Amino acid sequence: MKDTNMPGDPIIAVRGLTKTYEGGFQALKGVDLDIRKGEIFALLGPNGAGKTTLINIICGIVTPSEGTVTVGGYDHQKQYREARKLIGLVPQELHTDAFESVWATTNFSRGLFGKAPDPAHIEKVLKDLSLWDKQKARIMMLSGGMKRRVMIAKALSHEPAILFLDEPTAGVDVELRRDMWAMVRKLRESGVTIILTTHYIEEAEQMADRIGVISKGEIILVEEKADLIEKLGKKELRLSLQEPLSAVPPELAEWKLELGQDGHLLTYTFDSQAERTGVPSLMRRLADLNIGFADIETRQSSLEEIFVNLVHDQNAGQNADQTADASLPDGEKDSRP
Ligand SMILES: Nc1ncnc2c1ncn2[C@@H]1O[C@H](COP(=O)(O)OP(=O)(O)O)[C@@H](O)[C@H]1O
Ligand SMILES: [Mg+2]
Repeated sequence: MKDTNMPGDPIIAVRGLTKTYEGGFQALKGVDLDIRKGEIFALLGPNGAGKTTLINIICGIVTPSEGTVTVGGYDHQKQYREARKLIGLVPQELHTDAFESVWATTNFSRGLFGKAPDPAHIEKVLKDLSLWDKQKARIMMLSGGMKRRVMIAKALSHEPAILFLDEPTAGVDVELRRDMWAMVRKLRESGVTIILTTHYIEEAEQMADRIGVISKGEIILVEEKADLIEKLGKKELRLSLQEPLSAVPPELAEWKLELGQDGHLLTYTFDSQAERTGVPSLMRRLADLNIGFADIETRQSSLEEIFVNLVHDQNAGQNADQTADASLPDGEKDSRP
């Protein structure tokens, strides 16, 4: 697969990745993904979609069943040390050496990646994370939020080129969330590539340059955030005509209509957030031209339906009827990368 929009080589290239856990559950079903150098990429998906599995495989913690991953050109398994050196990982689950001090654990972490000691760098990291005055404290004495800050400090201790944040803001307080986003933006400015997972659409929207949506072990869409937001505002007006048309009449040219289903269906795509959607004037013009319709329907762009579907997945069972209605439209297949 060659993505022609890709400027330069991807810093991470994932190809044909599958993962079947012991017991037979398939958590990833053939994932292809390129991460661009220097971007903030948000991997968005409901709980159980496979986000942590994917990240852990890239980081060499979980073994894939099939497929390849390169990180900075290194194979994540055959050249594990080189690949892993480039990566800082803030895992979803907190696990730290409870008896160590903040300074010791951060400093030690750097050494694990074969980097020479650099007290000035550790000091900077701890200061950036508001941990400097806690440097001598034992980790077990810290609050949950502070422990999470320590996990980030450890991930940054060896100056990684790529930072993974797995559900960084799940269950954290407002202050830490704010600090974290400030830190992420600063790191990106310094050239670090950032991949974060989240199940909040809003978070992905705020932070990311690009968004990938994963559902049930498949990446169902990868988009520039700007394009995504534009599409989210789009709506479709679908008119089933009483009499088929052989072509869109010239009098309707300004609406850029599409004619489908052997001339039986007229589709108008419009920006639902625009001041003038063009819908009322279109209806008037159709009446003037004596074009009658048997049915009229509006629908959100397929992207929004994908999101609606994801949310329904998360709330499965609560609204069984609506879940059936929200099943993915044909258009969804078109958005697959
Ligand atoms: N070690 C494991 N053994 C068996 N199944 C697992 C294991 N880890 C994760 N899974 C399953 O794989 C699926 C994806 O999990 P995960 O990657 O953690 O999803 P996410 O991070 O998107 O919530 C889930 O259904 C989960 O129960
Ligand atoms: Mg997870």
